[in-house]
Amino acid sequence: MQPVIDYLKQNQSRFISELCEYVRFPSVSAQPEHRQDLHACAEWLVKHCQDVGLQARLCPTQGHPVVLATTPARKADSSRRPRFLVYGHYDVQPPEPLDLWKSPPFEPRIEGRSFFARGASDNKGQNLAHLKAVEAYLKTGTGLPCDLTFVIEGEEEVGSRSLASFLKANRAELGCDAVVISDTGMPTPKHPALTYALRGITALEITLRGPSRDLHSGIFGGTVDNPAMVLCQLLARMRDKRGRITIPGFYDDVQKLSAYEKKQYARIPFKATAYQKFLGAPKLFGEQGYTPLEQRSARPTFEINGLTSGYQGEGSKTIVPAWASAKITMRLVPNQTSARISRQAIQYLKKLCPPTVRMGIKPGHDAEPYLVSPTSAQAQAALRALRSAFKCEPVLLREGGSIPIVTDFKKILHADSLMLGLALPGDNAHSPNEKFDLDCFAKGQLMSACLWEELSRI
Ligand code: BES
Ligand code: ZN
Repeated sequence: MQPVIDYLKQNQSRFISELCEYVRFPSVSAQPEHRQDLHACAEWLVKHCQDVGLQARLCPTQGHPVVLATTPARKADSSRRPRFLVYGHYDVQPPEPLDLWKSPPFEPRIEGRSFFARGASDNKGQNLAHLKAVEAYLKTGTGLPCDLTFVIEGEEEVGSRSLASFLKANRAELGCDAVVISDTGMPTPKHPALTYALRGITALEITLRGPSRDLHSGIFGGTVDNPAMVLCQLLARMRDKRGRITIPGFYDDVQKLSAYEKKQYARIPFKATAYQKFLGAPKLFGEQGYTPLEQRSARPTFEINGLTSGYQGEGSKTIVPAWASAKITMRLVPNQTSARISRQAIQYLKKLCPPTVRMGIKPGHDAEPYLVSPTSAQAQAALRALRSAFKCEPVLLREGGSIPIVTDFKKILHADSLMLGLALPGDNAHSPNEKFDLDCFAKGQLMSACLWEELSRI
């Protein structure tokens, strides 16, 4: 292992230049005009994997391509070696609003140990850390104790639409003992983390239509319903004062936290006042009876992500708008299912909708919640790798974000996902001025190098 560790130490500045190249691609999967940029980014990644010493190829899908890269085939060997999949994504969230960035989102900037760019931590920096670890093995001629396959996709931020069928079509080649993912977080630089649960998600777009066109609010106002008002009234009924979602049956399948899990939560450093200041909100709000850490990871939510109606331009325009619409996502926790929750929400909204407007509901992307044993032999191996790379005691986390493909890894490949996140809470994922901590980058590489030894030993 020493040559691997030395190699990593000696090559940090080149790795940072490579991360610069990687984040320069505006690989925004949500915006159709970036199709070519996603393709170019995937091609760069294939070439990079080949330079690292992997056998890599670009796999076209219905959507953006998947990059597949494997460690070189070994000479005939009858003993079965463990195989692990490393999953990541090269697509990024839209950078808007651009005026809030201190420097352009696709022109990397380094300040101290912070590396700023869209995609820096979510997820390019994190998946590059794993590539650099395998590079260290291959370039120093150090034998890897296992076979590795990298699957880096370009549609994670839009719900991984093409990946499940890709997994099915390549089931034999992708068979593995576990999937390793660095696309989550750690609470502080001194608290490396193994994430054992993620929330799921289900999206809806609601449109209410009233009059056939925008009307003069002086001439006609008072005689027809206002779709914007109806939408506000409807949405306001989805959550009560105690922060509970009022959709009938919404909490039926929610799994309670065990005493063991509560103990893990207690180990996570958290200060409500500092947290509130960090968010910039005047006061925290959440479901009564739960701590903020529980609220944001172990409890389901109903969020309005976007609300549109009427005149949005400067000055005033006196109209009754013809329509109003809202983009909604609900975060789900084990053992809720997206199909059931989506059905319950639609039923309830339809029931509450008055006859003065017509309601249209378009279901959007979804992902199931995920939970894996935090005490398995593989989880213990992952904790050992975190401990030796970060020189700190790791924590076990449930997290609130979603990685749509993890439940498909289980269903299609029968493999659990080990999530070892390298992003810090202040890294601004999905926000302006996203960054990645270069110490997390370096320690992440070390963690990855240790992980293959630890996982292959069990
Ligand atoms: N890296 C995140 C997921 C994440 C973040 C998990 C923090 C746990 C902690 C991922 O890139 C992401 O943003 N996923 C989307 C998925 C959605 C578009 C289906 C999400 O959670 O909003
Ligand atoms: Zn993301």
